[in-house]
Amino acid sequence: MRVLITGSAGFIGSHTCVELLENGIQIVGMDNFVNSSPEAVKAVSKITGKEYPFYDCDMLDEGAFEKIFQENSIDAVIHFAGLKAVGESVQKPLEYYHNNIQGTLNLLRLMRKYKVYKLVFSSSATVYGMNNPIPYREDMPIGGTTNPYGSTKFFIETILQDLAKAEPEWKIALLRYFNPVGAHASGLIGENPKGIPNNLMPYISRVAEGTLEKLHVYGGDYDTPDGTGVRDYIHVCDLAAGHLKALEKLDDIQGARAWNLGTGKGISVLEVVHAFEKASGRPIPYSIDPRRPGDLPAFYADASRAKEELNWEAKLSLETMCRDAWNFIVKSQESQ
Ligand code: NAD
Ligand code: UD1
Repeated sequence: MRVLITGSAGFIGSHTCVELLENGIQIVGMDNFVNSSPEAVKAVSKITGKEYPFYDCDMLDEGAFEKIFQENSIDAVIHFAGLKAVGESVQKPLEYYHNNIQGTLNLLRLMRKYKVYKLVFSSSATVYGMNNPIPYREDMPIGGTTNPYGSTKFFIETILQDLAKAEPEWKIALLRYFNPVGAHASGLIGENPKGIPNNLMPYISRVAEGTLEKLHVYGGDYDTPDGTGVRDYIHVCDLAAGHLKALEKLDDIQGARAWNLGTGKGISVLEVVHAFEKASGRPIPYSIDPRRPGDLPAFYADASRAKEELNWEAKLSLETMCRDAWNFIVKSQESQ
């Protein structure tokens, strides 16, 4: 089997490339490096000892995108490519809708033209919106998203459901990720956002390394055990393994099916802070600040469908997530 990975140089894409190569699956990578760098492409080969074709390509450039399908016999696609910064999406909605939705439409047209009907799509827990009770289950209504980024995920899921209903050849996995963190144990790939991070774990990493002064904890008065926000943090290597399981499952399904990829366990901001202090041996100074607009107090997955149907469950602990995220920072500093 040969799998095209869009966004293969990104955080989750690069870890999934490793998982697939280590399990004997051939891959073709593509990315335009808008939020990543060529080092990740090389690091995947270094970790696995395997070379693979890679295309520096923008999915909005249909001609260049088609060349990948012309030059490779593709059996399935894992579609990670997209813009993902929530705040930026509020400032630049057209850019987000154009990149994420037009890019996906280009991919789907090419897949149909080259008779590739198996797709794994990177969706997000954000599609559950603001009104569902926790834990989130796949059969709950989706929508009610609160920012353009989240809406692109909801719209693309809707497009894929419509496509699968209209054309029975398609087999589509909608993977709803909770909060991916951590890094590969080698420390060679991980999450390295440009600018000041928006997400919790990369922000804490910068405080631990000393480039940011302190963490601003967004809200200490939520109705949660310690008053801070609760999320379902999942190690990116567990997440990568879930993609392989979903890919293998596609043969057994018809149409589109959603699976949550989360641990099913809620962890508070302060629990993450303390685990990171332990893993890094560094203090993480913080202040309790006002709530971030649009944040929910708590959400986490009901992870039972993925366990029953994909035979997948997250295994790695919060300690391992923090250890590996910190190891990636240390290794990155050593190589500079
Ligand atoms: P990432 O930004 O590290 O990876 C996305 C990759 O897509 C980047 O390497 C970027 O350069 C590439 N890309 C973007 N637009 C492109 C284009 N037009 N053509 C070619 N390449 C393009 O993000 P990630 O964390 O690895 O996320 C991967 C996917 O998972 C995204 O679709 C994201 O929305 C989704 N997701 C991520 C999270 C998370 O917390 N990381 C949560 C839920 C869903
Ligand atoms: C955010 C996005 C969500 C996206 C997800 C993964 C918003 C409103 N939601 O979710 O759409 O799918 O990232 O990319 O942006 N926190 C702090 N201080 C910080 C950063 C975060 O206290 O500097 C807290 C937050 O309030 C939250 C928790 O840490 O309680 C996790 O935040 P974050 O990592 O941004 O993820 P989400 O809010 O779950």
